[in-house]
Amino acid sequence: MKNLLILAICLLNFSAVAVAQKVTSPNGEMQMQFELMEDGTPAYNLTYKGKPVIKTSKLGLKLKDDEHSLLNNFEVIEREESSFDETWEPVWGEESEIRNQYKELAVILNQKSTNRQMIIRFRVFNDGLGFRYEFPQQQNLGHFIVEDERTEFAMTGDHTAFWIPGDYDTQEYDYTESRLSEIRGLMEESITDNLSQTSFSDTGVQTSLLLRTDDGLYINLHEAALLDYSAMHLELDDENMIFTSWLTPDVTGNKAYMIAPGQTPWRTIIVSDDAREILASRMTYNLNDPVALEDTSWIKPMKYIGVWWEMITGKSSWHFTNDFAAVKLGETDFENATPNATHGATTKNVKRYIDFAARHGFDGVLVEGWNVGWEDWFGNSKDYVFDFMTPYPDFNLEEIRDYAKSKGVEMIMHHETSSSVRNYERHMDAAYQFMKDNGYNAVKSGYVGDILPRGENHYSQWLVDHYQYAIEKAADYEIMVNAHEAVRPTGIARTWPNLIANESARGTEYQAFGGSKPNHVTVLPFTRLIGGPMDYTPGIFEMDISKFSPNNESWVNSTIANQLALYVTMYSPLQMAADLPENYERFPDAFQFIKDVGMDWEKSLYLEAEPGDYITIARKEKGTNTWFVGNVNGETPRTSKINLDFLEKGKTYVATIYSDTKDAHYKDNPQAYNIRKVVVNNKSKLSQRSAPGGGYAISIMEADKSETKGLKKL
Ligand code: NOJ
Ligand code: CA
Repeated sequence: MKNLLILAICLLNFSAVAVAQKVTSPNGEMQMQFELMEDGTPAYNLTYKGKPVIKTSKLGLKLKDDEHSLLNNFEVIEREESSFDETWEPVWGEESEIRNQYKELAVILNQKSTNRQMIIRFRVFNDGLGFRYEFPQQQNLGHFIVEDERTEFAMTGDHTAFWIPGDYDTQEYDYTESRLSEIRGLMEESITDNLSQTSFSDTGVQTSLLLRTDDGLYINLHEAALLDYSAMHLELDDENMIFTSWLTPDVTGNKAYMIAPGQTPWRTIIVSDDAREILASRMTYNLNDPVALEDTSWIKPMKYIGVWWEMITGKSSWHFTNDFAAVKLGETDFENATPNATHGATTKNVKRYIDFAARHGFDGVLVEGWNVGWEDWFGNSKDYVFDFMTPYPDFNLEEIRDYAKSKGVEMIMHHETSSSVRNYERHMDAAYQFMKDNGYNAVKSGYVGDILPRGENHYSQWLVDHYQYAIEKAADYEIMVNAHEAVRPTGIARTWPNLIANESARGTEYQAFGGSKPNHVTVLPFTRLIGGPMDYTPGIFEMDISKFSPNNESWVNSTIANQLALYVTMYSPLQMAADLPENYERFPDAFQFIKDVGMDWEKSLYLEAEPGDYITIARKEKGTNTWFVGNVNGETPRTSKINLDFLEKGKTYVATIYSDTKDAHYKDNPQAYNIRKVVVNNKSKLSQRSAPGGGYAISIMEADKSETKGLKKL
């Protein structure tokens, strides 16, 4: 009997081992375990340096009109293990080389009741875990509708989260820092107004989500390679602290229309006990396919200005006339309409911006409100709202085109779609061709308001497919895309580097719509920027908007030094100097940093970081020996301490330090900055105080003896 018992235990153990399998990251610190539960439900857990990160969490998909779904009753029919190690060179980025190294486990599952196969592919990196569902070509699974994805992320406790409300249409929210258990109570006040918004639950939040545990771990939950699927939110069961994926539905409530062969995006969990490592992670890009374009020589980082802030702040208008309550393209007579005297995109004003760009070495000028249709552009569910080609009578496209060319400045196109997406697709080829014919190589697109076709959501599968279609079609025309209000990025730019930026978060525009939290920019790099660059549009020098737009009481919650630092801390190959030329002319010495700062980097070092509190980053410009450092600070004044040991040994540099004065403050004294020049080398150490909502920016350039003469050592 005893022997029999031992045999039975051995068999049990054996069967448990047979379905459970561990995969460890290349450095051995991250470990994922896959298992099949008793009823054949696939599950996983994750540990980092032996600490639990994700407790046993179920995997699977609920299918529509399918009693079996793809949730349980699975058996493992095969496993494939492999490892991968490759270094690739991004077209633009935070460094010139990225290492993609992981161990992979593909579990091939068979659903016994239906004889359908599903693969769950896990990749364990040194910095986290990615996994996805794959549906191979087979006889018993062809077309299917995902009613809901049931991927769980079981937390180990009541962590601190940096979250924005789950929403099918917008990410333009301030972040709330709270315990997971507090989300429900804070949800209502976190849902601030937007022109299009659809929240779905008191405990639903968006990805990319950052969590901090009481035992010192930082965890980022997001997705990679969101293609032909709907965007994932996370629904929290706040009794058990389990997040479950919550996909964005279409108008009928369906979440995704799938075909086998096919796959879902990757679900990603980035983990570290050092917040800086979350910023340094490239896992999201690594889970995307290599570049799809043969020739990428036409894709170039750009620093630009624009006829933009004046409209956002209400100083001028996008629309040209106040004569009409509504306009119809092709029928409304704009030529004989009365100009409203506030239109921003006039030939004269645009030329002023072109002159300013040429004088200060900017690559491009964006002009919004140049094309007919802005009189009734949002809020009307109007289908044919823009044609993307017909300028207003006071915008002389040819004259501006030739003038910009003569000054060596590129014009940046603007396509506001007003979320009339079918209308945009109908015009897209002609609009892109029109751009090329007139020398425009980059477009800023926008999706303000509710989507047409009516009832669709900004982040549903149909729209995800549209944004992708726009990127790929633009690539055919060698056009770079900067999409606002589109779905938040998931590393797609590795494959399609002509997607040079997105907005897809609360950008600087909100500083003119009542303000953003002063620590917003200490959170974004940990959340929104994980998926790709943001067109944050920094560089505001006049914080009191009413000074130039009397009816706007908004205040920009930031110091000038903080605004300068953003060019380093908010990585993007597309950077705007967003303020009005006249505001820059008042502060030429601070403006110098925006002119000097690099756009494309060989190396990035994350020197200090704590979400919600501060971030300090140093970056070396590609092709030069120049470094730039940026520090952004939250509400509490803080002294940053950094070591310049990243500088080349034996070389002498001049550092220009743009910092807050002692009494600077985002609220009462935002324009108080100091600029000092000092001599530094790789032994230098800097101790620099940053004000509430402040920061500092430094340019560090190699210097010879004559340039260091009379300057103090740091
Ligand atoms: C919202 C965008 O974020 C903003 O930058 C743009 O100016 C307006 N839409 C108008 O297109
Ligand atoms: Ca926006």
